[in-house]
Amino acid sequence: MDDIFSAIGSDLRAALERDPAARGAADVVLSYPGFHAVAAHRFIHALHRSGIPLLPRWLSNVNRFFTGIEIHPNARIGRGFFIDHGMGVVIGETAEVGENCTVYQGVTLGGTSLARGKRHPTLGKNVTVGVGASLLGAIVVGDNAKIGGGSVVVRDVPANATAVGVPARVVMKDGVAVSAPAEEEANWTWVI
Ligand SMILES: CC(C)(COP(=O)(O)OP(=O)(O)OC[C@H]1O[C@@H](n2cnc3c(N)ncnc32)[C@H](O)[C@@H]1OP(=O)(O)O)[C@@H](O)C(=O)NCCC(=O)NCCS
Repeated sequence: MDDIFSAIGSDLRAALERDPAARGAADVVLSYPGFHAVAAHRFIHALHRSGIPLLPRWLSNVNRFFTGIEIHPNARIGRGFFIDHGMGVVIGETAEVGENCTVYQGVTLGGTSLARGKRHPTLGKNVTVGVGASLLGAIVVGDNAKIGGGSVVVRDVPANATAVGVPARVVMKDGVAVSAPAEEEANWTWVI
């Protein structure tokens, strides 16, 4: 139980550090659906891990009703997780989120396979996923990566990279711009 409260403390600090609009702890605790959803998930996940049937799934549905954020009870979420705004976020059953990640409204960590087993993304530490991005399949997003708003990510993203577009491609790695592959550039239509 101490672990849960300590993780919720980290989530609160994450919201204060990463949202310039946050006006203090009371503001976050009272008015941030992303904070509410993650805090509730931490208790729901503990119930799920203790083997209680049905109740965790029902509670996660109640959580979604109040916050607009759907987190499967089995999803593993690291400390310091901040969901900003939050409406429409979906985090699937086998998703894993490392410490200090941030996601914005409309983000999906979804599966592409109907087979049971690992089928949702794994995010490293300090990953940021922009508004409306879809990360699909059992892909791995490395530490400190950034995913652009509206991107569709279907392949692994290396650490310290920025990936954007549909399908997403890496445009920045270790602070250095990465140019598009030559064959992709050859297919571009230039409108002048
Ligand atoms: C991905 C992101 C983090 C990149 O930011 P950055 O490191 O400052 O990079 P830049 O803005 O210099 O963009 C680098 C390149 O990627 C392109 N790009 C950036 N974001 C993009 C996106 N979401 N989709 C498609 N292309 C994008 C830029 O046009 C630029 O291309 P160019 O080099 O051909 O001009 C940022 O654009 C983003 O999408 N952040 C999400 C923010 C968000 O969700 N806010 C919600 C608030 S409610």
